[in-house]
Amino acid sequence: MCYTENEYLENPRIVNDEYRRRLQSFQVPAIQKYFGSLQGKFFADIGCGDMPLAYCQEEIGRPSKYFATDLSVEAIYSGLNSLHRSGIDTSNIVPVSGPYFDFDLIPDSSLDAAFSNSLFSHLSLNTILICLKNLSPKMAPHARYLSSMIILPEGIDSLQYEWKMKHGANSHAAKDPFHYEFLEFRKIVDSCTGFTCRTFYQYGHPFQVLVEFIPDL
Ligand SMILES: C[S@@+](CC[C@H](N)C(=O)[O-])C[C@H]1O[C@@H](n2cnc3c(N)ncnc32)[C@H](O)[C@@H]1O
Repeated sequence: MCYTENEYLENPRIVNDEYRRRLQSFQVPAIQKYFGSLQGKFFADIGCGDMPLAYCQEEIGRPSKYFATDLSVEAIYSGLNSLHRSGIDTSNIVPVSGPYFDFDLIPDSSLDAAFSNSLFSHLSLNTILICLKNLSPKMAPHARYLSSMIILPEGIDSLQYEWKMKHGANSHAAKDPFHYEFLEFRKIVDSCTGFTCRTFYQYGHPFQVLVEFIPDL
């Protein structure tokens, strides 16, 4: 897996069929396991890129509203066009683009579920806090947000960490791809975002975990 600095405005995230299948192979089981069916729900795919998940609405359940949010308008529309060419009804998909997590198009307290794959792994803490602060008022009280990110193994707090895996990968405290120490991260999130950072779950991703955020009541 090749990680570069976050330059998604210059190089929109548009994947080929093979990579899309790989992304779907771990995102779909995670959605099914942690959310159950999204049928008829309000769902946000935050940092959706070209929306690998939206191809799998038969498996994950077709949300009544699928808010597809990303920095890159090009990635979103590439996904929409490609979904349309594949014969998928995209009428439930609401594109939401922009760099500052402006979620005005999402009604307050409406989201049943929100999900991100490999978004926070590319974001500084400050940017993550903006995302969470803007998202929290959009969540229904029963909802949760699952977001994959790079959490250091317990007891390790280093500027750079080398993940021992097939092709190797390094993560960093202060540059992309970003890693975080869980307890410290949780303390900050809980103090100022309108979310409680509850726990994290293992995920099909080689070294990211799914962190669970629940809205404060
Ligand atoms: C590694 S890609 C993952 C895309 C998609 N979730 C997937 O699984 O294929 C990270 C995505 O986050 C988006 N992103 C990065 N910074 C963002 C920001 N500030 N606001 C919204 N999206 C952002 C990028 O444009 C990119 O599409």
